[in-house]
Amino acid sequence: MKRTKVVDVLQLRDFGAIVNVKGWVRTHRSSKAVDFIALNDGSTINNVQIVVDPSKVDDNLLKQITTGSCISVVGALVESQGQGQTVEIQADEIEIYGLCGNDYPMQKKGQSFEYMRQFAHLRLRTNTFGAVMRIRHNMAMAIHTYFHEHGYFYFHTPLITASDCEGAGQMFQVTTKNLYDLKKNEDGKIDYSDDFFGKQTSLTVSGQLEGELGATALGAIYTFGPTFRAENSNTPRHLAEFWMIEPEVAFMNLEELMDLEEDFIKYCVKWALDNCKDDLAFLNKMIDKGLIERLEGILKSEFVRLPYTEGIRILQEAIQKGKKFEFPCQWGDDLASEHERYLVEEYFKKPVIMTNYPKAIKAFYMKIDEEESGYNGKSGQTVQGTDVLFPQIGEIIGGSVREENYDKLMGEIQARNIPMKDMSWYLDTRKYGSCPHAGFGLGFERLILFVTGMQNIRDVIPFPRTPNNAEF
Ligand code: 4AD
Ligand code: MG
Repeated sequence: MKRTKVVDVLQLRDFGAIVNVKGWVRTHRSSKAVDFIALNDGSTINNVQIVVDPSKVDDNLLKQITTGSCISVVGALVESQGQGQTVEIQADEIEIYGLCGNDYPMQKKGQSFEYMRQFAHLRLRTNTFGAVMRIRHNMAMAIHTYFHEHGYFYFHTPLITASDCEGAGQMFQVTTKNLYDLKKNEDGKIDYSDDFFGKQTSLTVSGQLEGELGATALGAIYTFGPTFRAENSNTPRHLAEFWMIEPEVAFMNLEELMDLEEDFIKYCVKWALDNCKDDLAFLNKMIDKGLIERLEGILKSEFVRLPYTEGIRILQEAIQKGKKFEFPCQWGDDLASEHERYLVEEYFKKPVIMTNYPKAIKAFYMKIDEEESGYNGKSGQTVQGTDVLFPQIGEIIGGSVREENYDKLMGEIQARNIPMKDMSWYLDTRKYGSCPHAGFGLGFERLILFVTGMQNIRDVIPFPRTPNNAEF
């Protein structure tokens, strides 16, 4: 008999029809006259209720069906008498695929997320992680659909690279060298000439530099892939392995970049509200009572566009009025998350796109501002970088217009001592038919955090990688 998914069974109304469902037992309640089994197969947050007449089934067998067991049920679809569901299945036959011992770590309700992280291989079977993973899938579909519909090409950039896009030196090395027997040259440096690639290589921190090659050929591209950062940040917002979406567009200026960032995020949020109703309703009830309201609020609000210099002025003003921050925020400082959260959650109460940051705190590739948007009338102090700051999350997007002028870009590369031998291919975009262009990077898991209302980034990716943790 053909199996029907729970999500489809719950839509059926042809009462009396014989159906077959398969899944994992969420709960099993017994009484003398009747047993109720709530069955879930991952296709939806909702369970289908199986009603069992104990006299019809081997008693011994029935008793063994506990939370977590995997079974197949054949029976008649009937209209439900109980509350909260319209259909249920009157079991005729139950086949046990796999029983689940009393030591099943996911059987108790109300376990902490921290506890469940130790069982990342099993936590997927809980309601919360099912909901999060289905939403994660939906967000990936939203992203591909958005860019496809807007004429962007999905462009694959390498994961193994010899360049450090963000220049922060937070890269994981890739080598086949014998670490117990490293050859060094006269200066005591490791000789990579006999390594697999004949040079030092790492896992990428961003696909942007290669993405720019795609954009300056295809017009508009986006990447969507794993990204690696060896930053020792043990925070609820950082992963060592995360997924990033990086669109890159030829002939795009700062205004258009901000329009894209805002339109894109709103599209994703709307997709979730339209396509993940049941999962969002569950998370709204169990995890975060303000979730759906917050998501709807994003669609209604116009993001604030705030130059960094103006942001600093607002923060200084707040300090004068008695607001206390842990970290300093003078012009030139990189904003800490307490500053970003003050602006977004207290001052404006909506998302903020901060722009025109001091050059010194941003990456080498950002376009240097012309005089009129500079700091204190001085030219060349700020760059056309944008960070999209979100309530609860902080920075969700980082992007910029790119410096397309060969000499200015070269100047930055030299000023920052970036090794030129690694950058010649990148500079060729500025040498041969250079064009104005812009792009951004969205941290996929930060988007999922926002859309699910989950508190810790380790709980929105199936198998998180963080300092001291590469389990599973
Ligand atoms: O601001 P970032 O470092 O920007 C770039 O990498 C640019 N090359 C992007 C571009 O312009 N194409 O990173 C972009 C986003 C951040 O805003 C954040 O959402 C996410 O990536 N991100 C992380 N997410 C999880 N864990 C980490 N360790 C992250 N680091 C950055
Ligand atoms: Mg950033």
